[in-house]
Amino acid sequence: MDALVERLAHEHVLDAQGYASLLASCDETAFNLLQKYAAEVAQSHFGSRVYIRGLIEVSNYCRNNCYYCGIRRDNREVSRYRLTDEQILSACENGYRLGFRTFVLQGGEDAHLTDERLVPLVETMHRRYPDCAITLSLGERSHSSYKRLYDAGASRYLLRHEAASRQLYEQLHPVSMSWHNRMKCIEELQQIGFQTGMGMMVGVPGQSIDHLVEDLLLMQQMRPHMVGIGPFIPHSLTPLGHHPAGSVRLTLMLICIVRLMLPSALIPSTTALASLSSQAQLQGIQCGANVIMPNLSPSDVRDSYQIYEGKAAFGSEAAEGLLILSERLAEIGYEISYEKGDYKSDN
Ligand code: 5AD
Repeated sequence: MDALVERLAHEHVLDAQGYASLLASCDETAFNLLQKYAAEVAQSHFGSRVYIRGLIEVSNYCRNNCYYCGIRRDNREVSRYRLTDEQILSACENGYRLGFRTFVLQGGEDAHLTDERLVPLVETMHRRYPDCAITLSLGERSHSSYKRLYDAGASRYLLRHEAASRQLYEQLHPVSMSWHNRMKCIEELQQIGFQTGMGMMVGVPGQSIDHLVEDLLLMQQMRPHMVGIGPFIPHSLTPLGHHPAGSVRLTLMLICIVRLMLPSALIPSTTALASLSSQAQLQGIQCGANVIMPNLSPSDVRDSYQIYEGKAAFGSEAAEGLLILSERLAEIGYEISYEKGDYKSDN
């Protein structure tokens, strides 16, 4: 097992069988070694800096009906909201004052989030905060929409692939959603020039080790700039609500592996990890993650963006909680970086 870890650390790739044995039979010694290498690689690229991104959840309306997600269309118990441009800009202002230099607009696939509305909004943000990066996480859109948003000033886009395995993807989504279209969107985003983020949940019902190996191989091939990996957390008002949460340990192992595979990637220690325990989020950083995305949404809507139950949005997960966050990071030898933190390639 240790030999596999050594190989991954030095060659940055393994074959399918290598990833499968690593994930399936990683004992404590191998895990510690994996973590040591992942932390070293992150240190050598980023020092002890952890980038922060201010997350603004712009709308929890969603046309989709993903079986795992709490804000799926058929969940009638969600109190739906959409932020106005003024609310979004005021969240940016608040965030800028707190030191954020990246704003992430995340939302469900809301029909009201048209290009006609988003393009001027992104332009305004870009004009007001020329020293900030604008990241979008608004789901599947057309090529022309992505291009217009890019031209308006957005430079990063997060679109988790959710499952490299088409069969698993189809188990997690209704037939109205297509694995092909998701892959096409990710390719288009990359081709337009966005710093592009992919990723998946760990421990989602029906997911096997082989599915995760497929995820790793896909990311090895597509080399995303950002990779978001978090444990699945059930939401009782969804079809998958009675399944257990994903494993923190397996999530941490995957973060380590992705760090070794893509040394300069921006990897968040996700809110889902933090929601299971604040300890787990710090462990994510110790496993090579180098981004944290505190919540900048107006506090009265934060509870309504429950993609899973118990989603953390206050304390160190809140933009106002940067002090707590920086203290927690300091305890493990890391510090918040207030830089914009664009992706820089290795070569
Ligand atoms: N548990 C964990 N993560 C979830 N996501 C959606 N629902 C859940 C859940 N129940 C993730 C998806 C999506 C991202 C915004 O949140 O991977 O892409």
